[in-house]
Amino acid sequence: MFYDTTANAHGLKHDPFKALIVPRPIGWISTLSEDGVLNLAPYSFFNGVSTDPHIVMFASGGRKDSQRNAEETGEFVCNLSSWDQRDEMNKSSATVGPEVDEFALAGLSTLPSLKVKPPRVAGAPAHFECVYLQTVPMIARDGRHTYDIVLGEVIGVHIDDRFISGGMVDTAAMKPIARLGYHDYAVVDEVFSLKRPG
Ligand SMILES: Cc1cc2nc3c(=O)[nH]c(=O)nc-3n(C[C@H](O)[C@H](O)[C@H](O)COP(=O)(O)O)c2cc1C
Repeated sequence: MFYDTTANAHGLKHDPFKALIVPRPIGWISTLSEDGVLNLAPYSFFNGVSTDPHIVMFASGGRKDSQRNAEETGEFVCNLSSWDQRDEMNKSSATVGPEVDEFALAGLSTLPSLKVKPPRVAGAPAHFECVYLQTVPMIARDGRHTYDIVLGEVIGVHIDDRFISGGMVDTAAMKPIARLGYHDYAVVDEVFSLKRPG
């Protein structure tokens, strides 16, 4: 099949776009508002986009609390979302007002960060402490604009020592979860390796 995205007449039950960009890592973003209200939400339009310097991005559909807090305070933390905390991650995605602390809503505890003010999710296998860099609006040729990309420089990385083995991160042991289309997710609990041709 083929469809033109102008009319987006794909003829399927739902827009297949996100079911085709898979698996998407989930950036579980913790922030503080200017007034000090704690905030947590998952973003699957998330990725690492540079290793020199270390930069991550998440894309917000509308200026949600995470984007606003990151822009206003200049800081956010990206927590790795894993199988063990899948229900808490999902609970933290509830559409609630900026006055609601999703750590409390999801029954999660905090761990202090070392270099930024927003705390980390206790129990997450890894965390990136980030300083906000810039927001890039996603504007279509016809001017439509819903999403913004929020970029942050990673200034500190925490890894739970339980997941370091032989000097390497044991990704399968962390059981990271990733977003597919619809209500579907994947869990990484098995890996394979390929050496690049010399
Ligand atoms: C797994 C998952 C991934 C999500 N990814 C995104 C995303 O990439 N962009 C987005 O705008 N919302 C995404 N959402 C929805 C937000 O998490 C939700 O709107 C949340 O309430 C935003 O919270 P905030 O206003 O505290 O930032 C996702 C939800 C889930 C469960």
